[in-house]
This record gives sequence, structure tokens and C-alpha cells, in this order.
Amino acid sequence: MSTANPIPWNSLYEAARAALDKAYAPYSSYKVGAAIFCSDGTIVSGSNVENASYGLALCAERNAITTAVHQGIRHISAVVVASNDANFATPCGACRQVINEFGPSCLVHCINKSGQIFESSLSELLPYAFGPQNLDPS
Ligand code: THU
Repeated sequence: MSTANPIPWNSLYEAARAALDKAYAPYSSYKVGAAIFCSDGTIVSGSNVENASYGLALCAERNAITTAVHQGIRHISAVVVASNDANFATPCGACRQVINEFGPSCLVHCINKSGQIFESSLSELLPYAFGPQNLDPS
């Protein structure tokens, strides 16, 4: 794992807040923005995108990660999740599992409506994770 690039938290908070404004959440009205810090030093963001067929809602974190992977990224070191909630929007279970695939040592910060920050890590949010190592025969 490379930790060559220091994590630019303020830029990540800004990118996650900007992504929140682009969320498409007409059904839940619960807008989420995510920003991830990638191994090449770039920041990729994503928003939640809902659907009239409710179960098809896509989470902000997974939208950001799939965009990054499509760009060739295979490792992420930080995730920021922004919401307009007074509470912190921590990543859902499915997102935790997808974060684990590309950033098992990832730091995860959640920023609420007031700008308060909850600092955590993927290993705290998803202990004893099942991941690529389970399927590695070596
Ligand atoms: N949501 C996210 O985007 N990320 C999460 O980790 C939790 C939930 C979205 C999905 C849905 O559009 C809305 O929040 C309410 O669940």
C-alpha cells in the first residue's frame, strides 16, 4: 500500500459537499456526496442517484468508486461522505464492502450538515472483512 501522498482532507470535504449538491434524490430527499482520494493523488467524487423503481438507488460512495476504477484506479486511501443530515451519514453495508475491495486501510470521514466531522476507518466500520485475500490461493 502506498501512503506517498498526504491526504488533502479539506479538498475532499469540499469535493464531497459539491457532489452532494448534484445528488438526484427526489424520493428520499436524502442527498449524499462522496469524495475519494486515489493512489495517483486524484480526487474522484460521486452522488447518490435514485430511481422511480426505488430499489435501484445508487449510493454516492459506490458511484465515486466505480468512476475511479473505470479511470484505472485500483487503490484508494480515503473516503469522505457528506450529507445534509444533522447526524453523520456513515457508509451503508454494501458501500463498506466495496470500499474494502479497493481500500482496506482506508480512512473514512463523514461530514454532517453543520460541518462537523466524524473520523473513522474502514477497518472500524467493517471488521473481519471478507476481501480479495480470501480468494487468493497463494
Ligand atoms: N445513501 C448513500 O448514497 N450512501 C450511503 O452510504 C447511505 C445511503 C443514499 C441511498 C439513497 O439514495 C439515500 O441515501 C437514502 O437511503
